[in-house]
Amino acid sequence: MDFAGLRLKNPVFTASGTCGYGDELADFMDVNALGGFITKSITLKPRKGNRTPRIVETDAGMLNAIGLANLGLDRFLAEKLPVIEKMTVPVFVNVAGELIEEYVAVVERLAREEAIAGFELNISCPNVAKGGITFGRDPCQVTEITSAVRKAAGAKTLIVKLSPNVTDISTTARAAIEGGADALSLINTFTAMVIDIETRKPVLANRTGGLSGPAIKPIAVYLVSKIYSEVTKAAGIPILGLGGIRTAADAIEFLIAGASAVAVGTASFIQPDTAIQIIDGIRDYCARHGIARLSDLVGSLS
Ligand SMILES: Cc1cc2nc3c(=O)[nH]c(=O)nc-3n(C[C@H](O)[C@H](O)[C@H](O)COP(=O)(O)O)c2cc1C
Repeated sequence: MDFAGLRLKNPVFTASGTCGYGDELADFMDVNALGGFITKSITLKPRKGNRTPRIVETDAGMLNAIGLANLGLDRFLAEKLPVIEKMTVPVFVNVAGELIEEYVAVVERLAREEAIAGFELNISCPNVAKGGITFGRDPCQVTEITSAVRKAAGAKTLIVKLSPNVTDISTTARAAIEGGADALSLINTFTAMVIDIETRKPVLANRTGGLSGPAIKPIAVYLVSKIYSEVTKAAGIPILGLGGIRTAADAIEFLIAGASAVAVGTASFIQPDTAIQIIDGIRDYCARHGIARLSDLVGSLS
């Protein structure tokens, strides 16, 4: 199948921050059987992230406030790139930062690496004080950061990851496309809170965290459907849909809503090979429904 000009084996990716940098899940699944692999966010300098506790389970999902903890560009190049070079699946490096120049510096350096298929721009992290979601909320800043990174990315594919924590996600989607995004991924997590009623304090040290998992799936499906019909269908830009996908049926909902591919995040913490099972499930569904090309399913909502 085609995704933003890339040939992929299938439409199933892993979601940033839930499957490490490449080899962490190697004991549980054949990572190279995926359609695409997205790394945990990396930033120019290493980050310790937020204080703990930084994850908490909820009824139908979890909150995380990791705060972009990561090893930084230099250690990524020394320790993780060699692993990525051995992978045959297209690998997208998720990039975050506090300043536009930081995003540009990371992308400029990594764009030289043949092993990297492209980038996912994280302008939607709700768990950091500076940068993160502040870029993703303001359409002017979305266009500015996307076009700066677009230049730095050269011929590599650029996916821009949108936040649902905005008033009108169509505005930020249009802004990313105007800046030169090749694809949009939606959605990142929803800002949320869990309170310990005995101490009357938030459970997370960061007070708030990002809600992910099955709880957000119907909202994510709705937002994919909205962006597809209002923005991306006409623009010819593919959507990578994610948010609460646990089964092939969940993934198929996103495809029908208008996503060209899907990513699996939180579900991998429960069953690490969920993404692989979903690939098989989509294949079975297409066979059962006589769907010869996946593109016939994409955006087929009646
Ligand atoms: C523990 C955890 C860490 C995450 N870290 C990142 C990250 O580093 N960068 C990013 O863009 N998204 C990150 N995400 C968001 C996911 O990639 C995804 O957008 C979100 O969780 C919704 O999908 P899901 O419900 O399938 O998990 C993280 C999510 C979780 C649960």
